Amino acid sequence: MSQFNVDTNLITLTRHMIHEQKQHPNAKGDFTLVLASIQLGCKFVTSLVRRAGIAKLNGTAGTADTNASGETQKKLDVLADEIFINALASSGKVAVMVSEEQEKAIVYEDGRGPYIVVFDPLDGSSNIDAGVSIGTIFGVYQLHDGEKPSEEAALRPGRELVCGGYCMYGSSTNLVLSFGNGVHGYTLDPTLGEFVLTHENIRIPSRGKIYSINEGNSIYWEKQTSQWVNGVKNPEKGKSPYSLRYIGSMVADIHRTLLYGGVFLYPGDSKSPKGKLRVLYEVFPMSFLIEAAGGRASNGKHSALDIVPKSIHERSPVFLGSKEDIEDIEKLA
Ligand code: AHG
Ligand code: MN
Ligand code: MN
Ligand code: MN
Repeated sequence: MSQFNVDTNLITLTRHMIHEQKQHPNAKGDFTLVLASIQLGCKFVTSLVRRAGIAKLNGTAGTADTNASGETQKKLDVLADEIFINALASSGKVAVMVSEEQEKAIVYEDGRGPYIVVFDPLDGSSNIDAGVSIGTIFGVYQLHDGEKPSEEAALRPGRELVCGGYCMYGSSTNLVLSFGNGVHGYTLDPTLGEFVLTHENIRIPSRGKIYSINEGNSIYWEKQTSQWVNGVKNPEKGKSPYSLRYIGSMVADIHRTLLYGGVFLYPGDSKSPKGKLRVLYEVFPMSFLIEAAGGRASNGKHSALDIVPKSIHERSPVFLGSKEDIEDIEKLA
C-alpha cells in the first residue's frame, strides 16, 4: 500500500525472515536473534567501509603475525572480525564460531546455543584500499540435540547448513541469504538502517555467458580447467565467446554470477592443488546459495556441499554457477 509514492508496508529482512521461518515448524525465534546480530555486524562494517579512507582504516593492521591462512591482516579484517564475534556472542544463541581471522574455533560451554556460525568477516581484503566491492560471508549450522559445543562440531558438510549468506559492501549494501529453499536479496536503506527486500527469489540462469577466474594462474591450471576455459574462449563456429569478468572479491563475483549467470572458478592447480578458497566460510555458504538458486556448486568432481572438512581452515577447489556450465566442467574431470 503506498500513498504519495511512499511504501508504508516495507518488507524488512526481519519481517521477511519471520514469514519465511513460519515454514520451519521447529523455529523457536532463536534464529531471529542470530540474524539480528548478523544484520548489526553488516551495518557496522558498512559504516566503517564507507569512511575507511577518512577514518584511516585502509591498509594493514600492522601486526607481524598472519592469520591461519598465512595472510597479512588488514585493519578492516581485524575490526570486522571483532565486530561479528561481539555481535554473535551478544545474541546468546551461538555456541561455536569459526572465523577466517581466528586460528581456533571460539567455543562457549555455558550452555548457550544451539547455533554454530562460520564466517569470513571481510572477504576481498586485497581490494579494500582500491575501493572495490568487498563483503562478509556467513553460514549457520545447528548443534545436534545434546551435542557438546566444540571445534569438531563445525566440521560438517555444507549440505547441513541451515542458513547461508553474504553481505556485499558495494555501491549499495546488499545482503543475500537462503534457508535452502529460495534465495532472497535485501538492500540496506541507510536512512532507515534496515535491510529491505529488493530481490525476491533469485534464480540463476541455467547457462551463462560469463566466466570468472584469475587468468593469471593459467600456466598452473589442470587440464579440466584449461580445456573448459579454452572452449568458451574459442567456441565452435556460430557461437560467441564468453566474457571474462573477475573482480577478485568472491562476494562480488558470486553476486554477479547469481544475478547474471555464468561461472566462478577457483580451481586447484599445480601451484595450489586445493585452490585458495576456504571450505567452511567461503565455499560452503556460496555453494549453498548457488544451489538454492537452481545452480550447481562443485569441487570439480562432485557437489561441493558434500565435502566433509577435516579442519576449520581447509581449502577446496571450487566451480560455482549456472548448472549446465558447471555440468560441462564436471564432464571434463
Ligand atoms: P579474503 O579477502 O577473505 O582472504 O578472500 C579473498 C579471496 C576471495 O575473495 C577472492 O575470490 C580470491 O581471494 C581472489 O584470489 P586471487 O587474488 O588469488 O585471485
Ligand atoms: Mn583473508
Ligand atoms: Mn574471503
Ligand atoms: Mn577474509
